[in-house]
This record gives sequence, structure tokens and C-alpha cells, in this order.
Amino acid sequence: MPLIQFVDLQWHGDNRGSLVALESHKNIPFSIERVYYLFNTKEGVSRGFHAHRELKQLLIPVSGKCRIRLDNGTESEDVWLDNPQQGLLLDAMLWREMHDFSEDCVLLVLANTHYDESDYIRDYQAFQNECRS
Ligand code: TYD
Repeated sequence: MPLIQFVDLQWHGDNRGSLVALESHKNIPFSIERVYYLFNTKEGVSRGFHAHRELKQLLIPVSGKCRIRLDNGTESEDVWLDNPQQGLLLDAMLWREMHDFSEDCVLLVLANTHYDESDYIRDYQAFQNECRS
């Protein structure tokens, strides 16, 4: 499974502007149970630094850009998110870090479960140990 998996989101724009629709099990490969967005991220701030045991997410840079680092326990890869017509799919058991938010960045996150702190792995060494077991 490649670390970086993009989902193309169809653009319904016309001379008035742009529109993208998000629908569970249509263009989004799971049931959307939660939506949140990161915005007004201060300069130099990085976020994330955790993995999820079960949760799947799709990250969409609705505005601006940021850099995401994904790590599956053996390899890591960096990718810039800057296209609101593409979402980055985050499967379970991926360590994620978010860096270099532009001032105008609005990062929309779709998730397939409600917020559950027990699903988080917040320690990198513990994440690597769970990947091996
Ligand atoms: P945090 O996990 O630190 O965000 P990130 O991983 O992006 O750096 O979350 C910040 C706070 O928001 C924390 O107190 C938990 C809360 N939170 C919710 O209540 N619901 C949510 O869906 C999320 C993602 C966070």
C-alpha cells in the first residue's frame, strides 16, 4: 500500500466559481462521522504527532497549503497539500505530522468515527512497537 494516497474530488465549477461535493461511499471511501478543520495556525507551529489504531481520515486543503509527513513505522514520506480538488487519505496506523501551514491554510478533515482519545497513539516508540506486533 503506498504511503501517499490521493483521492480526486470532482470540480463542479463554472464561471461563478468552484464547488466540490463530499459524499460518504461515493467520492469519500468511508462513512463521514466527524468533520473538523484547522485554521489560523500560527507561524512555525506543527501539529499531529500521533497515529490512530482504527480511524480513517481524509485531509483536504480547502485554502492555502501545508506539508504532511506520513510514517508507517518503517518508512516516511512528505507531501505538500495545496489542491482543494484532492484529498489525502490517511489509513489507520499511520504516524502523521503537519508542518509549514501557510497563513491562509484551512485544512478540512473528514473522519469515519467520532472523537475517541483511546484510539490515539501519541508516543512514536509505542507506535513502532504496535506496528511490529
Ligand atoms: P489535538 O489532538 O492536539 O490536535 P492535533 O493532533 O491536530 O495537533 O487536538 C486539540 C484539542 O481538540 C484536544 O483538546 C482534543 C480536541 N479535539 C476534539 O475535541 N475533537 C476532535 O475531533 C479533535 C480532532 C480534537
